[in-house]
Amino acid sequence: FLTIDDFDTHGKTILVRVDLNSPMDPQGNILDDMRIRSHIATLKDLEDAKVVLLAHQSRPGKKDFTTMKPHANLMSKYLGKQVLYVDDIFGTYAKTRIASMENGDVILLENVRFYSEESLERSPSEQAKTYPVKKLAPFVDIFLNDAFAVSHRSQLSVVGFTEVLPTGAGRVMEKELTSLNRGIKGGERPTIFVLGGAKVDDSLRVAENVLANGGADRVLLTGVVANVALAASGIDIGKVNLDFIKSQGYEDQIEKAKGILAKFKDKVGLPRDVALNDNKKRVELPVSELNSDSLPINDIGLETIVNFTSEIESAKTVVLNGPAGVSEVADFALGTHEIIKAATKSEFSIIGGGHISAEVEHLGLAHRFSHISTGGGALIDYLSGVKLPGVEALKAAAKRYEEAKK
Ligand code: 3PG
Repeated sequence: FLTIDDFDTHGKTILVRVDLNSPMDPQGNILDDMRIRSHIATLKDLEDAKVVLLAHQSRPGKKDFTTMKPHANLMSKYLGKQVLYVDDIFGTYAKTRIASMENGDVILLENVRFYSEESLERSPSEQAKTYPVKKLAPFVDIFLNDAFAVSHRSQLSVVGFTEVLPTGAGRVMEKELTSLNRGIKGGERPTIFVLGGAKVDDSLRVAENVLANGGADRVLLTGVVANVALAASGIDIGKVNLDFIKSQGYEDQIEKAKGILAKFKDKVGLPRDVALNDNKKRVELPVSELNSDSLPINDIGLETIVNFTSEIESAKTVVLNGPAGVSEVADFALGTHEIIKAATKSEFSIIGGGHISAEVEHLGLAHRFSHISTGGGALIDYLSGVKLPGVEALKAAAKRYEEAKK
């Protein structure tokens, strides 16, 4: 793929797809700005250009589905100059702002997922025909995909510009692919994936992939995905926990988990005990004692922590994705913290996903990981051998560029 070094960026208008998707509280404050900081390197290397940033925050229907204004404010702070928030994606206001930019200006367009077509996943040629691409492309000279973390989605902002504009990778994308490729090639065995968090569909897909293609020797499940798998294994995890799974639209994932457990029984590790939230207090319980009246499961239990961490410590390559519980509450961060500490002992450790990476920083252990990825779902897909549409589009663009040169 091409990088910033392959283009003459001076005076050019450059559209950069970044991933600024961050955990936010109900008041609209960004709780962890790791992704925002990560893109500063790209912006510094484009100081002689006019930079238009395109990004998303969360998904339609979620509580933190909101504008990009707080992201622009934080970026301005880290960049040391204004990143202007533009309250529009591809309408007249956005186009007028872009057309009047000067060298060194940086603007951040509105949450691209406010436009419904963004959520559709289609091929780059189909995405090239969408309104945002048709309307914005004439105002832009170069497209850079710096959003590794959303490159597993064939969405219009990720792949739609790659066939109509000279296209390359930004610095975040470049660093991710270089580090991860080194990890994949040098990945010594045994390899363990520890999958947690709340994106149950992503985690189960990855568990299935890595076990089917031999990318992992073991998969340990924590977080909401573990609750889904426990339900799939016939345990009554309690009405509140089942209701939560249903409210997130993941009821169908229980059947999916059943299939995975049947196929890879000995390779999937499930919690043997959990920590329940009893009026904000941590209460330990073996999963065999859960019943329909059980309280919310907020972490893996102590016995599971001991078992999982000893497995993780004996692995040579460890991939962590997603927290083991409600890690933003101190009492329920125990599982996540102990798993993080165990992973630092393995030879090659990769961590991904906003929430768990934030915990690594809180613990001051960032330097003990081989690579902290900005990616969540994208990272695990990439490591499990799935081709990322965003990365494939970059390769195709480079090929076209080389052929045009001949
Ligand atoms: C992520 O947080 O993993 C990326 O920003 C992609 O978000 P999505 O899973 O909502 O597409």
